[in-house]
Amino acid sequence: MSVAKAEIKRVTTHVLRGMKSRGEKISMLTAYDFSMARILDDAGVEVLLVGDSASNVMAGHETTLPITLDQMIYHAQSVIRGVNRAFVIVDLPFGTYQGNSTKALESAIRIMKESGAHGVKLEGGSEIVESIERILSAGIPVMGHLGLTPQSIYKFGTYTVRAKGEEEAKKLRSDAHLLEEKGCMGIVLEKIPAKLAKEVTESVNIPTIGIGAGMHTDGQVLVTHDLLGITKDFNPRFLRRYLELYKAIKGAAEQYVADVKSSDFPNEKEQY
Ligand code: KIV
Repeated sequence: MSVAKAEIKRVTTHVLRGMKSRGEKISMLTAYDFSMARILDDAGVEVLLVGDSASNVMAGHETTLPITLDQMIYHAQSVIRGVNRAFVIVDLPFGTYQGNSTKALESAIRIMKESGAHGVKLEGGSEIVESIERILSAGIPVMGHLGLTPQSIYKFGTYTVRAKGEEEAKKLRSDAHLLEEKGCMGIVLEKIPAKLAKEVTESVNIPTIGIGAGMHTDGQVLVTHDLLGITKDFNPRFLRRYLELYKAIKGAAEQYVADVKSSDFPNEKEQY
């Protein structure tokens, strides 16, 4: 058990803010089910994100757009049952908060009440500020998400690095300050130049969590299936794979098939 893990009994928004002020990096990973959440929580990951990337890695959709609020709540309920220490944030899925702050509040309340999660994440800045305000007014912690926001993929048309030009960078800076001013607990910065992420990180007092945003953010997040090498056709520069589980699991399954077919499994000791 790491020292940091032993010291923190339960990760809260207060703990995360303290980590930023001490320059202690925050680790965040996605989780969608009980078994994985239990392992990641036990490993000392501070924040678990029930990401709408479940739409891709759990349900096999091409984008994050199809996943529903009911499906996100189901994943969040499973994750919460596996967690003792981590702060659990749930993505509000596409269509449950944009352009309608009443609906946004209802969606966030459903997530909090039905899953027991600790906060929600929304993609966007000034366009969704009313929704953010309404949710925060109910005492629900909100994490922002700027840069590459996958729910807007059809507007962008591509998953390449965002805010490389000055106009988009200026909007991102101003959105980051707006999110801080409104009371967000943190901001995910996805796929933006490291220099811009550093500048934003140094100019706000709330934690920034980067994915493809370089080394200077207050924390890092990855999709767990990517980190473990369960996904195999997704190889962006920012991704570090810690395991090659696609190969390992496939190998194990192939061996099982062979053992069943050759009557090697079960053997004498594996029967009653
Ligand atoms: O849904 C997700 O997994 C995310 C992370 C990539 C930040 O939003």
